[in-house]
Amino acid sequence: TFKKYEKVFREDYEKWYRANEAYRNEVKADPDRLSYHLMPETGWLNDPNGLCQFKGEYHIYYQYTPFEPTGELKLWGHYRTRDFVHFDSCEPVLFPDSDEDAHGVYSGSAFSEGDTIHYFYTGNVKLFDRPDYDYIMAGRLSNTLHVTSRDGFHFSPKQLLMSNKDYPSDISAHVRDPKVIRREDGCYMVLGARDEDSRGLVLVYRSQDLERWEYHGRIVTKEAFGYMWECPDLFLLDGKLCLICCPQGVEKSGLDFWNVHQCTAVVLDYDFRPGTWELPDRTAIHMLDRGFDFYAPQTFEDEKGRRILIGWMGIPDASYTNPTVKKGWQHALTLPRQLHLEGDRLIQEPMEELKALRKGCRSYENGKSLKEEHALCCEILADFTDCTYMKLELRKGVWLTWEDHILSLKLGVCGSGRDTRKVEIERLNKLHIFSDTTSLEIFINQGREVFTTRVYGQESGLSLDCDGKVQVVVYDLAGLEYR
Ligand code: FRU
Repeated sequence: TFKKYEKVFREDYEKWYRANEAYRNEVKADPDRLSYHLMPETGWLNDPNGLCQFKGEYHIYYQYTPFEPTGELKLWGHYRTRDFVHFDSCEPVLFPDSDEDAHGVYSGSAFSEGDTIHYFYTGNVKLFDRPDYDYIMAGRLSNTLHVTSRDGFHFSPKQLLMSNKDYPSDISAHVRDPKVIRREDGCYMVLGARDEDSRGLVLVYRSQDLERWEYHGRIVTKEAFGYMWECPDLFLLDGKLCLICCPQGVEKSGLDFWNVHQCTAVVLDYDFRPGTWELPDRTAIHMLDRGFDFYAPQTFEDEKGRRILIGWMGIPDASYTNPTVKKGWQHALTLPRQLHLEGDRLIQEPMEELKALRKGCRSYENGKSLKEEHALCCEILADFTDCTYMKLELRKGVWLTWEDHILSLKLGVCGSGRDTRKVEIERLNKLHIFSDTTSLEIFINQGREVFTTRVYGQESGLSLDCDGKVQVVVYDLAGLEYR
């Protein structure tokens, strides 16, 4: 296929695509493929990119290496939908074909204005004469690029906006993942970065015309919080400003930060004054998801004014090999979720549209008698009253339990080497669970806590044991339809 780190042009990809029908069929036939989640047709997928709704259509781009499942040379893959049930599987839109992004069209975002969508992304360039492990002299350039489109499919020539020499002098070569927010006084771009003392932070730039960007300031923490922040996303939600970002290198603390890399959210009263802005104290920063597989989410506002989030259902983790790698593919996107604030807490709930996937429905007035042999691709809604403990088997060997206020997800034999994640929950009121062939998304107490994970083992078997009262509804779910 392709040698690592050579440019890939659209024509190269098209030729490769024509020659690889057998590869596609092989992946399609894998029983581990998900039924109602977006995946790469072949190869590797990571971050969602360029999320937007434009003229009624939702565009979901993503980091994509079609050629092989371990993810090296990144393109932007593309799905389009109107309803999150029927999808067009479209050709990739951006290729690593220019001197500014020759070794990866890295993550970025969309910003639509009038009849144009603006995209901002990071062009990764490897400098082969320098070591990549030295983070200051890192063997890379992180270019900030801009392209536009009037339909989400055809893109303008690439425009270089900024390169390493333009970032502040105390910042290392690691700068990436631009996201733009509009305010009355201009547009602001946030970029994830690592400084020369190896602390993660957000750089803020400002522009009036989306082409000339000036350094405006930075968002930092008082105490170091990881060495690099990826994929920052600054947006208004229910009248407050929120920052989601993915700090790398945060140490475990109690039940928190157990993944290799984290995804965190915080409400902040950043006033966009130039200079350095310190986040409120660390305790205000909370984890967005407690599962094994959640990283690099992106949000956007749709035409109904909803703030929607899609994440990467995967995580960079050298200590574990996803079993689908040997079948030629890896990773997926999460279900789309709608965000709200409850106080200063960001809550996530599956999008309304997903109700259209529901097929058969079974409801249990007394859920304690729940025992089902066949539910695997299903949605489970459980309402608890006066419950003090709960044990739910989600498929053979996978347990969600709540005892002594600790909610714990145990993957057991289905974890492929990964075992347990936990969170403390004062009261258990509601569970809303989406189970797909090889994934689980568990929304607790209306999305105050979420566990997202891949799970490997498809022997179905659903049963519940708890005290108090519980009402349960189980829906079988249809798969997505592709054109
Ligand atoms: C996050 C990330 C981004 C980068 C992209 C490359 O998963 O590392 O920081 O732009 O993936 O694929």
